[in-house]
Formats: sequence, C-alpha cells, structure tokens
Amino acid sequence: MRCLEAVGAAFGHTFTFQEAMIGGCAIDATGNPLPDATIQACAAADAVLLGAVGGPKWSDPTAPVRPEQGLLKLRGRFGLFANLRPVRAWPALARYAPLRADLLEGVDILFVRELTGGIYFGPREEQGEGDRAYDTMLYTVPEVERVARVAFAAARNRRHRVTSVDKANVLAAMRLWRRTVTQVGADYPDVALEHALVDSFTMNVLRWPSYFDVVLAGNMFGDIITDEASVLAGSLGMLPSASLGAGTFGVYEPIHGSAPDIAGKGVANPVGTILSAAMLLRHSLGLEQEAAALEAAVEAALAQGARTADIGEPGAEALSTGAFTEVVLSCLVEAAKP
Ligand code: IPM
Ligand code: MG
Repeated sequence: MRCLEAVGAAFGHTFTFQEAMIGGCAIDATGNPLPDATIQACAAADAVLLGAVGGPKWSDPTAPVRPEQGLLKLRGRFGLFANLRPVRAWPALARYAPLRADLLEGVDILFVRELTGGIYFGPREEQGEGDRAYDTMLYTVPEVERVARVAFAAARNRRHRVTSVDKANVLAAMRLWRRTVTQVGADYPDVALEHALVDSFTMNVLRWPSYFDVVLAGNMFGDIITDEASVLAGSLGMLPSASLGAGTFGVYEPIHGSAPDIAGKGVANPVGTILSAAMLLRHSLGLEQEAAALEAAVEAALAQGARTADIGEPGAEALSTGAFTEVVLSCLVEAAKP
C-alpha cells in the first residue's frame, strides 16, 4: 500500500483503500473465510490486493471451515478464470536458485493457469470418515477457450510461443483441453503452439527453462508447476500474480503463502506483493507507465544490493520488510522522474 501511495504521489493519482478480511482472521472474527462484507467491499472496488489466507492455527485439512475455501470462493464469485503468474530469473539472484546460472539466463515465462474450473471446482463427494471420496476433473469447451485466448493474446506481446500443459494421454478432460486449445490456436497463426504432457513438462521446465514463453495449464497442474517454476526466480518471495476475469477487475497476490515460520517478524520479502501491485496498476487501472515505474524501482533496489533474508547470503545483513520497501520507495522517486 505504501508503494501504491508513492506511485499515486509521483504520478498524480489518488487511490482509495478499504481493508477487508479473508481466510484465517475472517474465520476467527466471523466463522466464515469469505464474509459477505468482504465480498461487498471487493465488488465495490476496481481491484483487490490480497495477502495470504492461512496459518498453523487453521491448517487442519479435515476442518469443515478452512481459509483456502475463502480464496477459492473469491475466485469463483468474481469469475477470475485466468491466473497470470510471471516467472523470471533475476540475474542478481541466480546464485540463490538451485539451478546452474547458465540455465537461468534469459528465463522469462508467463504461466497462465485456469483458475475457476477443473478438479478444484468439479463434482466431489466426501463422506465424513467413510471409505470413499472423490474429486472430478471437469472442463467445458468455453472454459478452456476463454483461458486459452488469454494465453495466445499474451504470447503476441511476447515471444509468440504457447506451451499447453495437459495429461491428454490419460485424462478425458485433458483430451478436450488439448483439442480446444488447438482450435483456439488456429485463430493465432502467428503464435507457435505446442502441447506438453505435464509429467515431462515438469522435467523440461528445469532442464531448458529459457525455452518457454507462455505456458498454459489447467487449475491443478497450473498450481503445481508454478510452485515448481518459482525456484527459477531465486525465491518464492519474488513472485507476483494476477487473477483476471472478463473485465478489468482482478485480484492480485504474491504467490507465496502466509509463511508461518516468519510471520510477524517483519522479515518477509515484499517483492511478490509489490510486483502484484504493479500488475494491478497495469491490468485493472490501465496505468502502464506507473506499473513499469514500480517494477523498475524493484529492479533498481535489487541492483543496489538490497536484500531480504530469503535472498541474502547466509550470515550477511538482511533488510527487514520495511527497510527493503524504503529502498524501493527511494528508487521509485528516481524511476518516476521524467
Ligand atoms: C495457490 C494456492 C491455492 C490454490 C490454495 C491456497 C487454495 O496454492 O494460489 O496456488 O491451490 O490455488
Ligand atoms: Mg499453489
């Protein structure tokens, strides 16, 4: 929020913030991980900047009310079917990534994850302590078409390649996925489309990460491969995301979770959240120049050597969340100068 306020001050905008609860704190206060007041506040807003939803206190996966339900309901309620997760390798952080630096050169992948369908939203049955439970991977052609279009359109502004990840050799829903993506791809002859099976993709994205441009995947596979690919950036704390629907409204959140081991210590890496705010400026508010200035400020802060603990040398001085943000803010003033 401080970064957004600074962007507003530099570029002459006033942003109005309203805070609302989701996840664990909302369960504690209301018993509901996505209270109606929160839904109303989101509906009244141009965009939502989201924190993280869970913590050890609410982590029992068998509890009837769980923080994650709030997140899934929010995505469903606002029809946020396309989840954009850009992953780039930061040269300055290459040594914190578990891959060889030469493999990381030029890595810049945009993951487009389907977010409101598939097995996370399909028919399910859970019979208490019974001996059977199931979830269903179900996709319809329109669901696949609309998210595929997001991927192809994005590729046109990038390196013109879409890799669609599926498991068409086993799953019927994924055969429909592949067929539909191929059909949509015909409308984008300037974009090279290839299909990859999720198992071999997980291997290849670590062997040749710089090969990939836009990667399109269904809900569950997209969930898994984006956590995997996050290591390319050097730290999960670096990664932003945008969840978009048909209009300009979106939910923006770092892809990291609530990091209970460091919660409340003031040492979290704010970059994922700051870059999420930049995506918010770009996609929901149409403020491209402002978004670019905020991204440039983060880059400049890193180039100056500003580091939080997750991207610092062991034993070396690491900045707190607040101190790191100060460096970004000072760089923003520079970046905003004409
Ligand atoms: C994510 C998270 C969520 C998901 C959880 C918290 C419901 O893992 O955003 O990737 O599975 O989508
Ligand atoms: Mg996830």
